[in-house]
Formats: sequence, C-alpha cells, structure tokens
Amino acid sequence: MSRAWDLVVEGGTVVTPSGRSVADLAVSGGRIAAVGDLAGHPAASGARIVDASGMVVVPGGVDVHTHLDMPFGSGRTADDFDSGSKAALFGGTTTIIDFAAPKPGEPLRKGLEAWLAKAEGSSSVDFGFHMTMPRVTDKDLAEMASLVREGVTSFKLFTAYPGRLMSGDGAIFRALRRSRDIGALVCVHAENGPVIEALVGEALAAGHRAPRFHALTRPVEAEAEAAGRVIALAEMAGAPVYLVHLSSAAALAEVRRGRKRGVRVLAETCPQYLCLDAEVYERPDFEAAKFVMSPPLRPKGNGARLWEALAAGELQAVATDHCSFFMKRRKGHPCKADGKDDFTRIPNGAPGIGARMLLLWDAVQKGRLTAERFVEVTASGPARVFGLHPRKGNLAPGADADIVVIDPRKTHTFTMENQHLNVDYDPYENRTVHGEVRDVFLSGRPMILRGRFTGEAGGGRFLRRAPRDF
Ligand code: URP
Ligand code: ZN
Ligand code: ZN
Repeated sequence: MSRAWDLVVEGGTVVTPSGRSVADLAVSGGRIAAVGDLAGHPAASGARIVDASGMVVVPGGVDVHTHLDMPFGSGRTADDFDSGSKAALFGGTTTIIDFAAPKPGEPLRKGLEAWLAKAEGSSSVDFGFHMTMPRVTDKDLAEMASLVREGVTSFKLFTAYPGRLMSGDGAIFRALRRSRDIGALVCVHAENGPVIEALVGEALAAGHRAPRFHALTRPVEAEAEAAGRVIALAEMAGAPVYLVHLSSAAALAEVRRGRKRGVRVLAETCPQYLCLDAEVYERPDFEAAKFVMSPPLRPKGNGARLWEALAAGELQAVATDHCSFFMKRRKGHPCKADGKDDFTRIPNGAPGIGARMLLLWDAVQKGRLTAERFVEVTASGPARVFGLHPRKGNLAPGADADIVVIDPRKTHTFTMENQHLNVDYDPYENRTVHGEVRDVFLSGRPMILRGRFTGEAGGGRFLRRAPRDF
C-alpha cells in the first residue's frame, strides 16, 4: 500500500491554471500525494484533516521579486528575511526569489554566499536568488554558467541608476547572448537612466525638492524607450528577456511590438502598478514619500491597461518588488525622512510582500481576473519562468505541498498590525479587499492556521532552480 497520508485538505474548490473543481488534496512526506475525491481512502486514516468546504484552495504564492535585508547606503531595508518571510506567509506566499548582489569588485558568487547567509535559518518561506549584475566583465560572463549550475539561473541588469547599477547596451547585449547559450534568463529594470538624470538635474536646479518630483522626473517615456531598446537587444542576441516591474501602458506597447516581431519577451507587473496611481504623490505632509519607488506609480489609466494585459495572458507574473524603508528615522536604517528636503535622497521602494495575493484575489471576486489566471500569475507562471516548475506553483502529485486556503466569503482590511512587517507604514492601509487567507501549508507543514502563525520560524529552504527550458 502507498505511504499513509499526513494531511488531507478536504472539499475545497481546488484551482489550477487550467480549471477548478471541488476536490480533496492529500499530502505525504511534504508533497502532494493525490488530488480528487479521496473520501474513505485507507491512506487517510491518522492524517490531519482540514475542512476546506466553501473555501478556495490554491498553490502557495510565488513572489519572484523581493528585496529583503538589502544594503542601502550605510544601512539596510526595514525588513529582513525573518520579518519579510513571515509577512509573506500571512499573505499566502510560500516561495520568494530575492536578489543577491556582489560587493563592488567581488565575484558574483560572493553575492550568492552573502545572501545565503542572510536567508538560511531566517527565512520561513522557501527562497531562491536572482543575481544582480552591477557590471558585466569577461569574468562575470564566465561565472554566469557556474551560478546556473548552482541553481541561480536568472540575472538582473539595469538601464537605470547611472554610475551605480546601470549597464550600457553592449554589456546588456553580451549578458543576453551569454544567457542564450547557458540556459539563463536576463531580467532587466528598464528605465532610461541618463534621461532621468538630466530631468532630475533640471528639477533640482529649479528648486523642486518635493517627493512628487521623483515621479515627474521618471516619465513613462523613459520606461518605454528602455523597454523597447532592451527588447531590440534581446532580438539581436537571439535570447529571451524578462522585464521586471513593468508599470506603464507605453512599456506594454513595446512588449507587444517586440512579440509581434517574434522576440521572446516576458514581463512582470506589480500590485502597486495595478492598484495605486500617481494621485498619491499629491498627498500632503510628506505622505507621498511612502510611494517613492522606481518606476514610480503612473497616471490613472495605466493600471487599467495592465489589468487587461494580465487577464489576457500578456503578462507572466505579478511580483511585489517588496523593498521596505522606514518613514521615520531608525538606527541602522536609511529612511524616507532622509529625503525630506530633497526627493533624490528618499530611498526607493515600498513594502507589499504580504498584500499581493489578496489584492489579486480581490480582482477575481470583482470579475477582473478568472481564478485560473489568478493562480497562473501569482504562482504557476512565475514558477515556470524561473525554473521552479513542477515543484512550486503546482497542486499535482509530486509537487511540494505548498497550499493556501482562502475564505472567499470574508473580507480583509489591510492595517499596520496585520501586515506583520517591521516597516512603519503600509501603502494599502485601510483598503478592504474580498477574501481572507485562512490556512497556509509549506511542504505540508502548517505555517498559518485560521490566520495565526503556527509554523517553525526560519525553516525555509534554498531552491536550486532549473535552467531555462524555453
Ligand atoms: O524602487 C524600487 N523598485 N526599489 C527596488 C530596487 C529595484 O529597482 O527593483
Ligand atoms: Zn528594479
Ligand atoms: Zn526590485
């Protein structure tokens, strides 16, 4: 007889990218053992039974863009792998891909070692890493292949942040060509850094110092130009490319144009570009600083185009770009207040790791997205793009038993208390959405039960991801 089951999640509406049905999910040894009508099955005797009738059962969320314990200036982000991963679990995310980065002059693998040391024993969700490439030397190009063998199969480059992280066209082209040959995927932050630098210089010279000038000096055209250029570079290199945090209709149009020519362009957007807009920059009392991120929030209308693209299958993932900085001063941490008199000194980024799943589920209940698409863009799609399929984002036998039970009849109001982060603000504070994350299992282990943390902290595992298979 097959091994006895440890857990059965009974009678929920189980959703996958290809459909939904009322079914039981059996778990054995941390993996999904069976899916279907399992009532009375002998392997269930002795198993923990979780009644999911009336509930929606989806794969644990896969957030492929987070920055936890990220150094910035002389300090670090507000949230580390401990607080960030717990907030992720409360929100129904069980896997993250964070960004490892080498220090200037160090080999890339030193970046991997440093980020493994931060996450191992601290992260309560499973985790992988993209490798940030702040420059592209011959040595770096050679090293990419060994990192792919170690499960770091994606590399992030920037057309923004001149003098810090920006790579020129030649460097991006070389990284793309290398990625083509070794089964890696190049991810690009696409904004035109030099144009933004010029606009920022003009704004400062004119005495414009308020946070809203962050958005005004990073126009959609700067994103669209860089996106189009990166897509052209991928075309010349014969490689696929993944655009991170796509924020505007103009950049989306470049993605469509590239695909029409046959370029394999993949793109992610983030909840903030779907659910918030540039109106927040008009808020008084430095409130606008909460939303200083790059790319910035866009004028109304962009979000609607992104929702349509998401529903139509044109965007492969919704990831958070969670990058939290305190509003108020705190020892060892840069904060938004550092830019009180100069928007260029406001650290870029916002929290969101725990809000993603429910912000998207709310769209399902409002008819904007099907439940199947919800699963695709929050879990299965990103898992496939980044070499985690079939283990993650999948409720089929053999997959890790990362299971989320959502109560669709409840509502959830985002508050400071229930975001479970260190950071001192929540961009979605007081927003009410349909649905509540009730239970979360990571490899069959109950991490959240009835909304309470029941797991062992710090038990998340490093995920060696497979090379690109497309
Ligand atoms: O403002 C942002 N997005 N900060 C995080 C770093 C990045 O560019 O993704
Ligand atoms: Zn970025
Ligand atoms: Zn980012």
